[in-house]
Amino acid sequence: MNVTIIGTGYVGLTTGVALAYLGNRVTCLDVDEKKLDALRAGKAPIYEPFLEEMLALARENLLFSSSYPESMPSADIVFIAVGTPSAAGGAPDLTYLRAAAEGVGGNLGEGFTVVINKSTVPIGSGNWVETLVADAYASARREKPDGRFAVASNPEFLREGSGLHDTLYPDRIVIGSDSKRALEMLHALYKPIVEQTFAAPNFLPRPEELAAVPLITADLASAELIKYAANAFLALKISYINEIAQLAEKVGADIAQVAKGIGLDSRIGTRFLQAGIGWGGSCFGKDTSALTATAYEYGLSMPIVRAAREMNSMQRGRVVEKLLGELKILKGRTVGLLGLAFKAQTDDLRDAPALDIARQLLERGAKVKVHDPVASNRARAENPGLGVAYCGSAEEVFAESDAVVLATEWPEYRELAWEDLKASMRHPFVLDGRNFLDKERLQKAGYQYVGFGR
Ligand code: NAD
Ligand code: UGA
Repeated sequence: MNVTIIGTGYVGLTTGVALAYLGNRVTCLDVDEKKLDALRAGKAPIYEPFLEEMLALARENLLFSSSYPESMPSADIVFIAVGTPSAAGGAPDLTYLRAAAEGVGGNLGEGFTVVINKSTVPIGSGNWVETLVADAYASARREKPDGRFAVASNPEFLREGSGLHDTLYPDRIVIGSDSKRALEMLHALYKPIVEQTFAAPNFLPRPEELAAVPLITADLASAELIKYAANAFLALKISYINEIAQLAEKVGADIAQVAKGIGLDSRIGTRFLQAGIGWGGSCFGKDTSALTATAYEYGLSMPIVRAAREMNSMQRGRVVEKLLGELKILKGRTVGLLGLAFKAQTDDLRDAPALDIARQLLERGAKVKVHDPVASNRARAENPGLGVAYCGSAEEVFAESDAVVLATEWPEYRELAWEDLKASMRHPFVLDGRNFLDKERLQKAGYQYVGFGR
């Protein structure tokens, strides 16, 4: 099929590359010429494992363009995957979505096109996009687009850092539309994934137990709500374990044992029960905020989701509390941060806890040294004037530091020569914000180790 993807970010690019790998002719459309130039040269503009390898494999089926008139007319299927960040007040900013929908409507081809919201969009956006596309079509062509297109929702569930894996081997695919024709075309597009009939790339082998992927068909509003409900549930699962971790600290329990003990109940599940500094990233914060904003419009207050958000923002402050507890005074102290990205295997810094923690420490007069294996350049570019010292190696973070805080669980941080690094610190205090380090090893090496709920 001919597929056009609007927005070549974490979602659009991953989807585009995967669909091209499966044999579709894919045009990735973006307004960012720099990104497009990098992609044309085979370079991934973001850090995402295996993206460049997949770009190379799918190259023949991929085009990169900034032109709606060039990218739209031949498309059978158009995915909108532009950003939907939070606007002031918490509801999503739909500026990019509007621009994309108008670009689609003004440039529809002669055949039938399915226009898909893959961006996470508020409930009702399917209808809104339909109107925007139809109006843009009518003003470009001076006729109604009768039957020329249909809108569908196909929410994305990939995780950054394992985006391609999650796209080729998803837990489920959700499609929502009122149009039978649109649903049939989406069934056809996703057939190789649903039936797992494609040849797996050798660097991304198919999980052994995966025979087929469930495809759920829903109405538009349900598909849109599924996305928000899923993200909010994952966010509150993390906030819940962080709340229990607080109590574990008080009573002398170990949260890792508690998480395992409750998680092995299959009704609960072991995943997303990792206690620590809490969730960050581009989605949990904005999506829980959007969900409560939508609920508010309908007179609902969503107390559970709000509590999860409150708990999460407290976790970042708890880093400062724990440092104060140990160092007593932060003014003039040097704190080293290991990791900046909101989680490992990505360079994404949106709502990264590390950046918030750095700001809080700087406000209290501490010096902050930071390291991240992939996100430092981006952090520098996106946060001019932040006031932290960027270190070229993790080892530099330790030198003359009064405390080291692990903020991102990059595997290489576990493998550091901790025994040797201690000597370069002023005070061998380690705060493990992800409960990720080898506590026994660090204690044996003479560090004072503090985690979350351990
Ligand atoms: P992103 O910011 O990485 O990428 C968005 C891209 O859209 C950018 O490259 C931008 O230049 C481009 N763009 C903006 N306006 C445009 C326009 N008018 N025409 C063409 N391109 C335009 O965003 P993302 O992280 O990929 O997220 C996209 C959407 O997917 C969001 O709604 C997000 O909530 C949702 N989502 C994201 C993830 C994730 O892990 N990042 C997972 C699931 C869902
Ligand atoms: C999340 C969801 O997992 C995806 O399904 C969804 O598609 C995506 O949001 C989205 O809508 O954008 P992502 O934000 O990439 O994916 O990353 P996660 O792996 O979910 O981690 C989110 C945050 O929670 C990270 O900061 C991570 O460190 C933290 N986390 C995760 C915990 O603190 N504890 C855990 O047990 C798990």
